Amino acid sequence: MLIHLICAARPNFMKIAPLYHALKKKTWANPVIVHTGQHYDINMSDAFFQDLGLPSPDIHLGAGSGTHAEQTGKVMMAYEKVIQDTKPDLIVVVGDVNSTVACTMAAVKILYKNGKKFKLNGEIIRRPIVAHLEAGLRSFDRAMPEEINRIVTDSLADILWTPSPDADDNLRREGIAPERIIRVGNIMIDSLEMLRAKIESQEAYSDFHLQPSTYAVVTIHRPSNVDDPQTLKSVCEALTKISQKIPLIFPIHPRTRKNLHKYGLLSQLDKNERLFLPEPISYARFMNLVFNCRLVITDSGGIQEETTYLGIPCLTLRPNTERPVTITHGTNELCTLENLEEKVSNMLNGYHKQPEKIEYWDGKTAQRIVEHLEGLAVEPEDQSTQIFKRPLAAK
Ligand code: UD1
Repeated sequence: MLIHLICAARPNFMKIAPLYHALKKKTWANPVIVHTGQHYDINMSDAFFQDLGLPSPDIHLGAGSGTHAEQTGKVMMAYEKVIQDTKPDLIVVVGDVNSTVACTMAAVKILYKNGKKFKLNGEIIRRPIVAHLEAGLRSFDRAMPEEINRIVTDSLADILWTPSPDADDNLRREGIAPERIIRVGNIMIDSLEMLRAKIESQEAYSDFHLQPSTYAVVTIHRPSNVDDPQTLKSVCEALTKISQKIPLIFPIHPRTRKNLHKYGLLSQLDKNERLFLPEPISYARFMNLVFNCRLVITDSGGIQEETTYLGIPCLTLRPNTERPVTITHGTNELCTLENLEEKVSNMLNGYHKQPEKIEYWDGKTAQRIVEHLEGLAVEPEDQSTQIFKRPLAAK
């Protein structure tokens, strides 16, 4: 089974790594990494491949930056050609970035003219099967580009691998057939467990002359927080005040750095000796900073989940989250620029939530995906119709 694993941007790399390693052990699977090139800086991409033990991508689309339409269009055009040339059986897209929706849209419009046919859920498909890993998440905020990507990808993909029950509910509410929805759990936890020893052996905080449990970690890069100059200025003012209570390590995403520079806010932040502004940090060293911090302030998706799993207090600077389970079962709290400082003080005074265990957030998600795919194994290629061994069963 020729399987394309699509990755594009920083949060994708830790989602494909456990699956790549699990598939590589199987004789029936030929996993091939396709990098769309959406993130191209060394410290946004290559450093993650090294940490996660991934080989260099087999196929690189070199799409780069652009407006949403440009980036999506470039990936679609490049990937359509790759599908036609290589004829994958299965395409796995992850998360919610522009490349996720672009590769899905390119794949579902292909028609394999000779040979390849699959039977899935009673339907004959003459194109690659598309599976979405981390399906069903919804913030219900269509101003977020990622929400659009999630909705479109889920409505088109054939197999929807979900991380949590709220995701299953969202998909069912949108009228998606139950047999397309398979709960497999949270793949990010697999990466974390896979690299736990390496993460724990680092002392990344010493780069900033800090000790464990004496600092907070900050990541802010959502367009809604960093694209408007007034909002970004308010973010900087809030962080400056909070840094008087606790030192902050804030690895700066390229989008954020570009805007801080453009709006003349970077030099003031840089002068603050309790606010550290490194470039983006590799996975193991970044997670080491998170493992050892007092609390996290973020607008990222994945970090809300990692902090819940680790029991570390997390403040999410957003009006909503597509990961509500981190609030109902985890350590996550939504906050605004108005109440951020007060919430940090509360957390520093010990008022924070204790996490509950979430089903299938256990480091075995890649294994469940492989087992699911084993149920789908195709008949030999020389048969006129390739069919899966047994129909998919909804969980
Ligand atoms: C993208 C994803 C977002 C994800 C985030 C993780 C979309 C719509 N957004 O947002 O869901 O949480 O990645 O990081 O797909 N840039 C560089 N070097 C790089 C990558 C980007 O300089 O290696 C610059 C680009 O030129 C662009 C900006 O950073 O100006 C933003 O990059 P882009 O890929 O458009 O979106 P992100 O904000 O990273």
